[in-house]
Amino acid sequence: TTPLKVALLGCGTVGSDVLRLLEDQSGDLAARIGRPVEVAGVAVRRPDRHPDVPAALLTTDAEALVTRPDVDLVVEVIGGIEPARSLLMAAFEAGKSVVSANKALLADDGSALHAAAAKAGVDLYYEAAVAGAIPLLRPLRESLAGDQLRRVVGIVNGTTNYILSRMAETGHGFTEALAEATELGYAEADPTADVDGFDAAAKAAILASLAFHTEVTAADVYREGISAVTATDVARAAEIGCTVKLLAICERVTADDGDAASDSVAVRVHPAMIPTTHPLAAVGGAFNAVFVEAEAAGQLMFYGQGAGGRPTASAVLGDLVAVARNRVAGVAGPGVTTYAGLPARPIAET
Ligand code: HSE
Repeated sequence: TTPLKVALLGCGTVGSDVLRLLEDQSGDLAARIGRPVEVAGVAVRRPDRHPDVPAALLTTDAEALVTRPDVDLVVEVIGGIEPARSLLMAAFEAGKSVVSANKALLADDGSALHAAAAKAGVDLYYEAAVAGAIPLLRPLRESLAGDQLRRVVGIVNGTTNYILSRMAETGHGFTEALAEATELGYAEADPTADVDGFDAAAKAAILASLAFHTEVTAADVYREGISAVTATDVARAAEIGCTVKLLAICERVTADDGDAASDSVAVRVHPAMIPTTHPLAAVGGAFNAVFVEAEAAGQLMFYGQGAGGRPTASAVLGDLVAVARNRVAGVAGPGVTTYAGLPARPIAET
């Protein structure tokens, strides 16, 4: 049978693990999909930096790769807004389904990307964009699509959770805990996106959009980071049976008049004290967890590794299998329908 051909955009930590898993599991994947999967090409900026990738696959011309007639699926792990956005739009126009791990892009322009995918009749999946390995977006988008969600509360940034956990364990201040996180490779050289809550805000926007079937962008999210949290704050919290966590909170807000037609969605990221008895309080180290409250389902919690090459690659491959199966069946998966009834609340009002 003809192999399904995958174009890989980007080959950093996640991309190289995607390639490894594709190779190690090629037999199983072919059996699960019904057709073998083959890598058509890998677009990178600096081919000389990827000695492990067969030279014949490497290209610097990502645009030519995504529009190549033999390519069926595009996997984007470049991150950032451009050139990722233009490349995905070109992929949709050329009729290719897309798997992306790009939280910044989905949080900035998710509805335009969904619209382009729907117009082309192809798939857009991005499970890896929020909370790495944890199956979360498809449960929100598909499994819970028949329920009404009240609230989604998550620890969606591993770096800040590691820092806050260490502050609680050692009594150290923020600066010392950050230095430790950097040394151990949890925090990146420039930790701003994590520490100031930008990373969590992008993830919160994606979660809120899917949970409430609406359009929330990162700019709609109230955001406060953890750099002002002191050793004293953490110690005081412990004295009253609480722990400090950076939370992403997405909730349905009912207007004072009680008229559901004027409900809105409030989305915010900030440090919060939570009782040590709450399941989220037990989430230590660099782990992520998301707590969901739904009308009929009640309380649910999703827990696991939110970062790292292999865990994130696992989510990318899961999407790849879903998209590939749809391709084999000649269908597109569930799209995302947004409606105007549940607007994101202006930040000033939250
Ligand atoms: N910097 C992120 C974190 C990586 O610390 O959770 C995953 O998005």
